[in-house]
Amino acid sequence: MKFLVINGSNLNFLGIREPEIYGKATYNDLVELIRAHAKEKNVEVSFMQSNHEGDLVDAIQQAYFDKVDGIIMNPGAYTHTSVAILDAVKAVKIPTVEVHISDVDSREDFRQVSYIRLAAVKTIAGKGFDGYNLAMDFLIDFLGENK
Ligand code: DQA
Repeated sequence: MKFLVINGSNLNFLGIREPEIYGKATYNDLVELIRAHAKEKNVEVSFMQSNHEGDLVDAIQQAYFDKVDGIIMNPGAYTHTSVAILDAVKAVKIPTVEVHISDVDSREDFRQVSYIRLAAVKTIAGKGFDGYNLAMDFLIDFLGENK
């Protein structure tokens, strides 16, 4: 199985941005955590991070050509604004789990709108970095059941 982990805007600033919300660990720490989990689960994983909406759309489209089996995506603030990311996930029809480090549903009202959620097979929020690995476990089961 081949997975792609996509992180959107400001997630490269993990460890620097609002540590009281997102923690002190860095984006590289996050990548290493997920890489170790993928190794344990015997699956392939690659990573992409961008602050630019169009680049995120391009990465989702590229996943189609790369025959990626599942996408784990935290779009950052584009979660709450991007119809383009929603449409890209719908277009490629690759099972996608929406992940948020913080519990978006208990934060400001504007964070309670999610466009990608309309196409995601699952949403995991408020579990910190572990949410990405939980998303991977979910996708492994989901893909096993939907072969
Ligand atoms: C986030 C939550 C979003 O509302 C915010 O804009 C982010 C990070 C999270 O992981 O909790 O950039 O997606």
